[in-house]
Amino acid sequence: MTISAANLPIWLASWLVWKIVPGRAAAKMAEFSHTEAGSGLDMLAAVEETTRPELRARYFRHALDELRHARLFRERAQAWSGARGRTQAVLEDSGFIASHGIRTTESLFRQLGEREFLAFVWVHEKRGAEQFDIYASLLGHDAATAAMFAEIAKDERFHIAYSRAELDRLAKAGDEAGVRGAVFKVRARRAWQLWVRLSLDFGNFMAGIWLTILYVVLLGPFSVVARAERPVGGVVPPAPRPAPADRAREMI
Ligand SMILES: [Fe+2]
Ligand SMILES: [Fe+2]
Repeated sequence: MTISAANLPIWLASWLVWKIVPGRAAAKMAEFSHTEAGSGLDMLAAVEETTRPELRARYFRHALDELRHARLFRERAQAWSGARGRTQAVLEDSGFIASHGIRTTESLFRQLGEREFLAFVWVHEKRGAEQFDIYASLLGHDAATAAMFAEIAKDERFHIAYSRAELDRLAKAGDEAGVRGAVFKVRARRAWQLWVRLSLDFGNFMAGIWLTILYVVLLGPFSVVARAERPVGGVVPPAPRPAPADRAREMI
């Protein structure tokens, strides 16, 4: 795939995650598994809450796709990590979806209403498909992972197409301004959440650097002094006991 100025930041961030930081790729797959499961649950809620019977079947197929994606990401995460360590801990974290804000107790459909929900699906699926293209190009050397992304991309095309078709139908029915406003709101909220997340990540990164510098500058010298005073080897051998005859002489 071609790298443009628009997708350069996400390409660089993805390159760091998938190629450079050790162990991060498997953990990221585990996180994706939760994100997809959260989307699946939101689509199932939409199946129940929509007042449009003709959309129910699409929401249901979408829900099944997302739950299958969750399984595919979980399997890749386990294959890469050997089903242990931090990755397995992320997979087994039953509170991950709630603690990472993927879903709240109120369904997305109820929060947004049908029109904005469809705008949300269209905007997020489109962006997700672009990101998955980048991941697929970075992980092309791993045949199983490349095949997984290709399979997911096929489903994402359906999600993008049906949500866009429904938005177009609403616009043609006279709600053009409402559809445009809903898409704008979803994009603005997405940009704000991205900004907050990046700020938090940057803050954590800088805190790590400052703590490392403090550790080296303040605690490092004490560690050197302590090492210099400690006998080599760390184990202090017992002082040789005097022979019984010598001890008896000392007691006189
Ligand atoms: Fe998905
Ligand atoms: Fe999707």
